[in-house]
Amino acid sequence: MNTAATKASLLSRVGGLQQIPTIPAVLAPLLRYLQQPVEQLDVQKVTALIAQDKSLAVQCLQMANSPLFGRWKKIDSLRGAILGLGFHRVSDIAMSCGLLNMMPKECDGLDPVALWEHSLGCALVCRHFARLISYPDPSKAYLAGLLHDIGIIVNLWVFPKEFHAAYDLARAQGIPLHEAEQSVLGFTHCDSGRLLAEKWELSPDLREVVSHHHMLQESLEHAGLVALVELSDLLCRVSGLNYGYIENREVNLLEQKGFAVLSQQCQGLKDFDWARLTFELDSYMDEVQSLVRTIYRT
Ligand SMILES: [Fe+2]
Ligand SMILES: [Fe+2]
Repeated sequence: MNTAATKASLLSRVGGLQQIPTIPAVLAPLLRYLQQPVEQLDVQKVTALIAQDKSLAVQCLQMANSPLFGRWKKIDSLRGAILGLGFHRVSDIAMSCGLLNMMPKECDGLDPVALWEHSLGCALVCRHFARLISYPDPSKAYLAGLLHDIGIIVNLWVFPKEFHAAYDLARAQGIPLHEAEQSVLGFTHCDSGRLLAEKWELSPDLREVVSHHHMLQESLEHAGLVALVELSDLLCRVSGLNYGYIENREVNLLEQKGFAVLSQQCQGLKDFDWARLTFELDSYMDEVQSLVRTIYRT
């Protein structure tokens, strides 16, 4: 298959199609706010924005009351959530709910909720991992983890039939999804994700994460963040926070290129306690799955 030609045809199909999800109205300003200095944040305005979307506001409260987001006492209003959890935490929650609302409601094969579970799990692992190794921007790490697989949402909407064939192949052979996409579609969710990231005008570092989290060697300016997401994504995929199937392989995180790249930036990685992170990941898994049940399946 001619890869360049396939990518060009992908570009034209995505460019010409309307199915590609747009950012829900509330999320565009949130994304902009998240990239501003803290002193410029208008908390009241954002609270009012989230409150406009009733179902988003309800989901945000459900998430705010999950132990995953540091609940300290029962939260029953958005204002209470911001006071109790802080503006950035509530923004993270609103972004997470917004991403969930962009998933197709039903599709064969891949359960869209499992994809959201993976994205949310990866966001939490990225943030936790970032803190443990003193990565300078744990909030950015959360957002990067949450959005890294947005290309899968594109594939689900724009190429459902072909994507399901790729997903079936990945599941049957226990191989990484991007490898199956490459052989069935001729491109991966990194390629389609890049197009959506551009359309959404994500910041350059997030675009790099979306485009290169399976090809770290192609990452140029923001390799540290991409490496952090690559490692967290792998951790999730080989545990229960994957897309509904287990990859049939052994992974040694210390041998990943991401480990070497991140070690250069974060001294904390040298003596890192992987066993502790894996242990903590198990409890994340339970919490994420119970949160997903609360928000989506009830
Ligand atoms: Fe991915
Ligand atoms: Fe992923």
